[in-house]
Amino acid sequence: MSDLDDLIASVAGWCDPEKAAYLRDLVVSSKARSIVDVGVFGGKSTFSFIEGCRQQGFGLVYGVDSWDLSDNTEDLTQAQDVEFWETIDLRSHMERFLEKAFETEAWDYLRLLNIQSQRAYRIFDDAEIDVLHVDGSHTETAALRDIQNWWPKLNVGGFVILDDNHLASVKPTVEFVKARSVLEKDLNFRESCSVCYKKTK
Ligand SMILES: C[S@@+](CC[C@H](N)C(=O)[O-])C[C@H]1O[C@@H](n2cnc3c(N)ncnc32)[C@H](O)[C@@H]1O
Repeated sequence: MSDLDDLIASVAGWCDPEKAAYLRDLVVSSKARSIVDVGVFGGKSTFSFIEGCRQQGFGLVYGVDSWDLSDNTEDLTQAQDVEFWETIDLRSHMERFLEKAFETEAWDYLRLLNIQSQRAYRIFDDAEIDVLHVDGSHTETAALRDIQNWWPKLNVGGFVILDDNHLASVKPTVEFVKARSVLEKDLNFRESCSVCYKKTK
């Protein structure tokens, strides 16, 4: 197991080792300076991006997460989906993420935005972001709202990774991105299904 494998195995979430390595390597290969991770949860994707920054010696990862139950249950139509989130202690995942950030001395490369995604995007200038990971709520409304809000903030030539792109609820988000990008990489692994696009307009 690599150091990154060990790191992401030590926190909760949904990001296979192969996806984690891809996120880290994307930061390095694109020399990304500004990375936004919408949806931190236990930090698997966030720490992967941070490792890319650490490897290249520069860059900042903005981790966006409210860790709020109501954001996770907004617009959910299935009772079992609501129950799933109700059984999760979001605060404890946030605390564990913070402990890990201190333990790994992540703060040179990490800024935490513990607010709603629909407010966080306003902090950024247009075309300020080099890599964007959209992995907040996957309801149709929330996913589409995220991409529409964050899209102007992403550089032309920058990369967007959409998580759970196979879900019907994420389809309109995928279509939005496809119309403005070229496919970079399909990322289909055991725990997570994602796709990476490069923004062309
Ligand atoms: C699927 S998890 C993220 C998984 C993580 N990227 C990983 O690699 O394991 C989704 C996260 O998005 C957060 N979230 C959902 N809706 C949000 C919103 N509107 N604003 C901020 N965070 C939100 C949730 O609190 C949750 O922690």
